Amino acid sequence: MNKKMNILGIESSCDDTSAAVSSGNLILSNVISGQEVHKQYFGVVPELASRAHQRNIVPVVHVALQNAGLKKEDIDAVAYTQSPGLLGSLLVGASFAKAFALGLGIPLITVNHLEAHILAHFIRSPDTEYNPPPFPFVCLTVSGGHTQIVLVKSASSLEILGKTIDDAAGEAFDKAAKIMGITYPGGPLIDKYAKLGNPDAFRFAKPRVSGLDYSFSGLKTSFLYFMRDRLKENPRFAEENRNDLCASIQKTIVDVLMEKLILAAKSTGISHVAIAGGVSANSALREAMIFQAKKNRWTTYVPDFQFCTDNAGMIAVTGYLKACEGKFASQSDVPTARISN
Ligand code: KG4
Ligand code: ZN
Repeated sequence: MNKKMNILGIESSCDDTSAAVSSGNLILSNVISGQEVHKQYFGVVPELASRAHQRNIVPVVHVALQNAGLKKEDIDAVAYTQSPGLLGSLLVGASFAKAFALGLGIPLITVNHLEAHILAHFIRSPDTEYNPPPFPFVCLTVSGGHTQIVLVKSASSLEILGKTIDDAAGEAFDKAAKIMGITYPGGPLIDKYAKLGNPDAFRFAKPRVSGLDYSFSGLKTSFLYFMRDRLKENPRFAEENRNDLCASIQKTIVDVLMEKLILAAKSTGISHVAIAGGVSANSALREAMIFQAKKNRWTTYVPDFQFCTDNAGMIAVTGYLKACEGKFASQSDVPTARISN
C-alpha cells in the first residue's frame, strides 16, 4: 500500500468535534472544537452534544484540510469513530464521513475509539519526537468513559486484562470536581489546583477489587459523604480547602491506577508500559510513571498532550494502520454506543 496515503480522521464520540489529516502516520493537521455548552451542567448533555457536532463538523473539517494544505480531492480514505460513545454524537461523525467518502468515491474505515487512544502512540507529529512502544506493551487507557489495562500484542491484537467494574477514572475526577463546585471537565482543573495543595491533607479509602479490575464508584460516594459532613460544619469548607482537596483526591485516584498497572506489568513480565486517554494528561499520573520507570526499570510511553484527550489525529492514524491491513468498512456499517464483539 502507498505509504503516503492521505487520511481524513473524524472524531465525534463525546463532546469534542475533531478532524485531522494524516499522510501515512504523519499528522498534517489536527483540529479540535470543544463544546462550552456543557460547563453549566457539570457534565455532557447528549442532546446538546449532537446539535453542537452538527454545527461544527463542516467548519472543523474545512480548517483541518486548510491547515494540512490539502484539498478534499487529495484525501484517499476517511476514518471515523464507530464506537464506543454517545450514539447521537457518533451518528453525526459517521454520517459526515459516509457522505464525504461517497461524494469522492473513496473508502471508509471504522475505528474503535479506545484502540485509537492506545494507537495514538504511533502518531508521527512535527512537534514531537517519534518514540513508539515496541510490541508487546501494556497500556493503561484512562478516559472519561473508560478505564482499562490492555495488553497490546500488535496494532490489531489488543487484549483487555482488566477494566473498571463501575465508574471510569475520568468520571471520578469529574464527579469529585462537581461535588467541590468545580466546572466540567473537572480533571484538568483538579490537576491545576492540586499543584498548590498537600496530597496528604485528607485520606480517602481506596477500593478493594480483585485482579486487574478497578472500581471508582465507592471513592466517589465516600468523597460525597465526606464533603457533605464537612460542609455542614463549615459551608465554606470546599473553597477554603480547594487545593488540598484536589491534591488529596488526585493522589488517591493516581495511586489506585498505578497499583493495578504495576500488578499488570509484574504478571505479564512486560516492562514497556504506556498510558493513554484523557486522564493520561494528568501531571501526577505522569510523575508516577516516571517514578515507577526508575523503581521497576520500566520503559514508559506517555502521549503528547494534544493526543491524550479526544482528537481525530488518533483516528486518522488508527485508520491508516487498518488500511495497511486492508481493513476497510462499508457504507452500511453503523456506529454503536458500546463496542459489539
Ligand atoms: O479521552 P477523553 O478526552 O474523552 C473520553 O474518551 O472520555 O477523556 C476525558 C476525561 C475527562 O474525564 C477529563 O476530566 C479527563 O479526561 N482529563 C483529566 C485531565 N485532562 C483531561 N483528568 C485529570 N487530569 C487531567 N489533566
Ligand atoms: Zn476518548
